[in-house]
Amino acid sequence: MITEKILVLDFGGQYNQLIARRVRDESVYAEILPYTAPIERIKEGNYKGIIFTGGPNSVYDEESPHYTADILELGVPVLGICYGCQLIAYMRNGEVATAPVSEYGKIEFEVQTDSPLFKGIDKNSIVWMSHTDYISKAPEGYRVTGITADCPCASMENNEKKIYAVQFHPEVTHCQFGQQILHNFLYEICECKGDWVMDSFIDTTVAELREQIGNKKVILGLSGGVDSAVTAALVSKAVGKQLTCVFVDHGLMRLNEGDEVENTFVKLFDMNFVRVNCGDVFLEKLKDVTDPEEKRKIIGTEFYRVFWDEVKRNADEGFFAQGTIYPDCIESGKGDADTIKTHHNKVRMPDDVSFEGIIEPLKSLFKDEVRRVGEMLGIPRELVWRQPFPGPGLGVRIIGSITREKIRILQQADAIFREEMEKGGYAENLSQYFAVITDLKSVGVMGDHRTYERLLVLRAVTTDNFMTADWARIPYELLAKASSRITNEVRGINRVAYDITSKPPATVEWE
Ligand code: XMP
Repeated sequence: MITEKILVLDFGGQYNQLIARRVRDESVYAEILPYTAPIERIKEGNYKGIIFTGGPNSVYDEESPHYTADILELGVPVLGICYGCQLIAYMRNGEVATAPVSEYGKIEFEVQTDSPLFKGIDKNSIVWMSHTDYISKAPEGYRVTGITADCPCASMENNEKKIYAVQFHPEVTHCQFGQQILHNFLYEICECKGDWVMDSFIDTTVAELREQIGNKKVILGLSGGVDSAVTAALVSKAVGKQLTCVFVDHGLMRLNEGDEVENTFVKLFDMNFVRVNCGDVFLEKLKDVTDPEEKRKIIGTEFYRVFWDEVKRNADEGFFAQGTIYPDCIESGKGDADTIKTHHNKVRMPDDVSFEGIIEPLKSLFKDEVRRVGEMLGIPRELVWRQPFPGPGLGVRIIGSITREKIRILQQADAIFREEMEKGGYAENLSQYFAVITDLKSVGVMGDHRTYERLLVLRAVTTDNFMTADWARIPYELLAKASSRITNEVRGINRVAYDITSKPPATVEWE
């Protein structure tokens, strides 16, 4: 049971999720609400503390998000970060102005006075700044607690009312004592005890699932991805064979992946496992289709049809479970406040299917928490740390028409590249790496023979969020080994290239 919660009030800053994750790293549950959330909702939340996030450039911009100053009178401790810091000054009639010198990046910060927020941190340290406005005069009742060379009020507080504000970003790793500052806010100021731990999450969730499901059936679509896998493991722990997992193998999985998913779940977890092998049907539908969007559409439509036909065969009552996670549900503080982020992981149900309810046991977890829960439930590391893999599978990594032969070549070459990358120690350091088969053929030579075979491309990227990405600088020796093994071991490839394009202008996937 979680008894303590922190509210991250989102004013549109880019680090809102990161702040919540850092709080949770301190074993305290944090949730995010947009700045448009009414104060009654905040009062009802019984929060132990509130963090105002960063946001736009200036509190004076007409469009800038604001909040009623009553929030500072709730008796709940507040920490304002960056824009959130300036907002507190503005709400309390301090002065916010354009800074003569904007600060960006690593900046030296000096603590001026004793403060519970800075307990245990050095007098001089490095913080992460990103601002063009600054507080030129702290409000009445507030004292300046820290400065930088260009910022006369880099932090301030009203200790009596437990309102704290920092111009810098403690949540980013470049901030030397950032995690300690958040820890101090949570434990010294909000007096949290730290009850957000994953084993108690598992126990509580399993108990709740048992209560909710009773003796009814549950059905879940397994994709082989981490979210649906962990959902399956949790529900299985709660109700065993009442759970049926449907795994649609469209024949576009990586080498042996379908069998690995099946073996893992059949061996390790108590459940009914239904695998639908329909590679042939997909191939037939995709015959001679070369347009990438068309391919995606066919794979999506066919998948939907096969999956729901199978679901209807297995259960038409009880519950439907899915692996929705917290970032799919957060209401954003950016732009139109009423828009909820697209729930891309939520499944659209056909009209003729009706379940008693939907079960989403991971909907309060961030991805790294889902992985921790997965490991604790005994799901193998390869699956828990699996790279993102697109829904249409290898279908987006085969240029031109999709044929059995191209799938075979790609599966074998991709497996070799991944094996070499793993041997080289890149499995946990790189975001994503894979092979792509093109439609281009070129002349080569093998022994005394001329060959005319396909070009294979290797792609490896580093990224934080997949919106932008850079190509990974992996060693030539590793590329040489992969290239040599692929051309020797995989029939049908006589040339290998490495993709050295970032996103933008390219995308991660080739399709
Ligand atoms: P792009 O190619 O758009 O890919 O730069 C960004 C990230 O998204 C993954 N991706 C998908 N994931 N369904 C998914 O679940 C899809 O249809 C899909 N398409 C791309 C891609 O692998 C990369 O991680």
